[in-house]
Amino acid sequence: MTDDFVKNKQQLFDRWAPSYDWLFPSVIYQAIHQRLLAYVNLPPTANVLDMGCGTGRLLNRLASQFPDLRGTGLDLSPQMLHIARNQNCHHPRLIYIQGTADSLPFAEAQFDAVFSTISFLHYLEPERVLSEVARVLKKSGRFYLVDITCPKNVESRLQSLHTIAAGSIRLYSPESRQQLGTFAQLQCLNHYSLLGPVLLTVFSK
Ligand SMILES: C[S@@+](CC[C@H](N)C(=O)[O-])C[C@H]1O[C@@H](n2cnc3c(N)ncnc32)[C@H](O)[C@@H]1O
Repeated sequence: MTDDFVKNKQQLFDRWAPSYDWLFPSVIYQAIHQRLLAYVNLPPTANVLDMGCGTGRLLNRLASQFPDLRGTGLDLSPQMLHIARNQNCHHPRLIYIQGTADSLPFAEAQFDAVFSTISFLHYLEPERVLSEVARVLKKSGRFYLVDITCPKNVESRLQSLHTIAAGSIRLYSPESRQQLGTFAQLQCLNHYSLLGPVLLTVFSK
């Protein structure tokens, strides 16, 4: 089940990759990245991870804003990574590797910040992902979680009805995000509305 789930996601995003930056959702995602930057607080020489980095747009933006930042983009999809590498405006400060968010190929306490934009909703085991995020973050490091949210009562209805693509994606209310964070020993600092139903939740280790 887990292998099939991951394989299906990889195939979906491999197919989407060549047109990803040219389709309408990407315009929305880039507006979200821009708004996210207003809430990002990093040391000047930060080392950051973008989990589910897609074509690398967010990391390029971060590297332009923070000239001494180093960043790693991790994604499931080789095709997304192929485009991210071709569009890497800041090599060797930015690098891209293939992997899954629930088993991060990094030693502990590596990163000042971890980002996840419109990717968390695809994760089969969110608890495992958050404990991995907590493991690779330095003390006081930040996790910036940006995803579509929904109210608590809608969240439980969606789950019980399996209405969204047979459980292939999952939305989290602000309360559930906070609970998941607490479970992984990540403190929820605040929530910020970025665009429509897209919510940023900032956690601290
Ligand atoms: C909608 S795209 C968002 C890409 C990028 N973060 C952005 O803001 O444009 C979701 C990305 O998450 C990746 N993804 C999905 N499940 C993943 C997993 N378990 N581990 C790593 N990446 C994953 C997909 O391959 C895809 O590139």
